[in-house]
Amino acid sequence: MTRPVNRPRPRRSCLAVPGSNPRFLEKAQGLAADQVFLDLEDACAPLAKPDARHTVVKFLNEGDWTGKTRVVRVNDWTTEWTYRDVVTVVEGAGQNLDCVMLPKVQDAQQIVALDLLLTQIEKAMGFEVGRIGIEAQIENARGLVNVDAIAGASPRLETIVFGPADFMASINMKSLVVGEQPPGYPADAYHYILMRILMAARMHDLQAIDGPYLQIRNVDGFREVAGRAAALGYDGKWVLHPGQVEAANEVFSPSQEDFDHAELILDAYDHHTSEAGGRKGSAMLGDEMIDEASRKMALVVSGKGRAAGMVRTSSFTAPEV
Ligand code: GLV
Ligand code: MG
Repeated sequence: MTRPVNRPRPRRSCLAVPGSNPRFLEKAQGLAADQVFLDLEDACAPLAKPDARHTVVKFLNEGDWTGKTRVVRVNDWTTEWTYRDVVTVVEGAGQNLDCVMLPKVQDAQQIVALDLLLTQIEKAMGFEVGRIGIEAQIENARGLVNVDAIAGASPRLETIVFGPADFMASINMKSLVVGEQPPGYPADAYHYILMRILMAARMHDLQAIDGPYLQIRNVDGFREVAGRAAALGYDGKWVLHPGQVEAANEVFSPSQEDFDHAELILDAYDHHTSEAGGRKGSAMLGDEMIDEASRKMALVVSGKGRAAGMVRTSSFTAPEV
């Protein structure tokens, strides 16, 4: 199945909104998040879930989500809620929904099951088959160990998302502050987990997203934790509060200087490899030697900048020959 979707969608900031809270659902529409996900899982109390499904359908259909990727997080397959979450939301608002997020994914079959269910609903409703994507959350050891197979389980997959709160609980990490380092450990306790997810995501050409930072008033702390994921290559991070949105958009966009530099490398490489530039394989840009590998690195930075709507502030001048 090929999926004619607009990938990769920008996901620098992925805003979590409880599906049971109309006031938050109203407010979320005005925030500058790249993605919003309406939550039927852990931000929704068990007794509120049945009504929340209908609230989510109403807000997807009637809200103004222009410019945002629209996602609903359903409950995980070990509960009794998943199938009805998916059926109610996709039948009721499938045409106003971009992705379904599946939490606590433990193996590839759980993704396959969601893919099959989505296909049935799309066929029954006359929707385009395969348009709705899947986001998979990795939140325990089993999910992490199986992440390669999970990331390759369906062409609907768009992102692999790290769920630090559930993950920390599931491996008995000695910390209560989600996203912060456990006391007494001298290095980055998340490095292996983040890299493991990132490799699986990139192997299948998917985005990698970091999960929440729960100290919502500590924007500096958020920036630091987000910066760690951004430095590794992550595409974005969850935000739980309006104060985190701007910080996420900034941290996951290149700086103006890096964006300009990347664009210059691309122009210089194009010039030097062309007939007019002497068909060279490598060349100098100022004091820097650039080649095909530099072009690939520049493409990443330039692509992220363009996706974030950045405009270059300098232009390339071909050297005199
Ligand atoms: C998110 O779902 C988390 O568990 O961190
Ligand atoms: Mg979780």
